[in-house]
Amino acid sequence: MPKALVTFWCCVFFSFRFIFLNSNASSITYNVLNFGAKSDGKSDATQPFLKAWVAACTSVKAATIYVPRGKYLIKSITFRGPCKNKITVKIDGTLVAPSDYNALGNSGYWILFIKVNRISVIGGTLDGNGAGFWDCRKLGKNCPVGARSITFNWANDVVVSGLTSLNSQLMHLVINSCKNVMVKNVRIIAPDFSPNTDGIHIQSSIGVIISGTSIQTGDDCISIGPATRNLWMNKIQCGPGHGVSIGSLARNYNEDGVQNVTLINSVFTGSDNGLRIKSWARASTGFVTNINYQNIMMKNVDNPIIIDQNYCPNNQGCPSQASGIKINQVTYQNIFGTSTTQVAMNFECSPSNPCSEIKIQDIKLTYLNNKKAQSICKNIKGNTEGVILPDNCLL
Ligand SMILES: *[C@@H]1O[C@H](CO)[C@@H](O)[C@H](O)[C@H]1NC(C)=O
Repeated sequence: MPKALVTFWCCVFFSFRFIFLNSNASSITYNVLNFGAKSDGKSDATQPFLKAWVAACTSVKAATIYVPRGKYLIKSITFRGPCKNKITVKIDGTLVAPSDYNALGNSGYWILFIKVNRISVIGGTLDGNGAGFWDCRKLGKNCPVGARSITFNWANDVVVSGLTSLNSQLMHLVINSCKNVMVKNVRIIAPDFSPNTDGIHIQSSIGVIISGTSIQTGDDCISIGPATRNLWMNKIQCGPGHGVSIGSLARNYNEDGVQNVTLINSVFTGSDNGLRIKSWARASTGFVTNINYQNIMMKNVDNPIIIDQNYCPNNQGCPSQASGIKINQVTYQNIFGTSTTQVAMNFECSPSNPCSEIKIQDIKLTYLNNKKAQSICKNIKGNTEGVILPDNCLL
């Protein structure tokens, strides 16, 4: 090829590269160190993080907030949108909450994203430093309400990937009133005695995917509240913890339902519950429908399969003692392993709203390693397929 032609094609190639790659690569990075954050874990980095957020949020180009290795002391912080473009928070370091729990006090939130669309949080560790707060509650002192570690409120197109959350005061990760959320490769760790430290709590949200996530905590590994739709959970490891729970529902009379929830390919180890649906024994407009549990291993789980519609602590606030929550179309398929209690399958549905269209297929649960387990069926209709152990109590 003549030299001029080579030069010409090169130019064309590079121009294309410039135009196309650059339009894609036209993102801008804001390093929190450049906003005055110190990675010593002692200097308050809240304001520097907020300044980095303002810069990123007002950027016309897609923006990355970068948090290098090291520890950053962060007090209650709100990352508010809407922002001009998408934002990635890339964390190589650890965000630490103040060790004095009064510093988060009654804020309810430690790290809060609110009305932010197209937000990704990649990597990083959140250390909620919850031990002092749990102690305060255990001693029944006059404690503040406490704080959830990371919350997304009214956020759409959210990704949380590779994050580790340690010792939250209350819930670790909360997804509330969001659409299109992906949580993957997340690790959640708190002691089994830590109160109300749910791993992931979802409510009023549509289109949430949780995959490849391990949760060891003191309350539900995943709790699913009213108005949750199209939730997909795959490869979850739970335990210790209180299991994957739909509920508690019927907390309020006017409640939207939970529908189209799938949990597959997951393992429960030493958890209080496995697959739980729980509602208060009182009137409600709520419902639970189209729930699918498939390929679930139970290792020494107290209540591997449980529907409990009789929740009424201290027998207060449940005048009729019957739950208004209608549960139907729940499928349990290929659930196997060991129960630490004799009742491995326990369906206590509402006397006023019996569970219906419940399908159980290929269940093999034993009491401890090889004793025969039992099942309880109250107010439930459905059908079975394949081998069912413990004995099938569905009529
Ligand atoms: C149920 O949820 C899944 C995602 O988990 C979604 O792909 C599917 O379209 C939903 N089905 C309905 C009927 O909405």
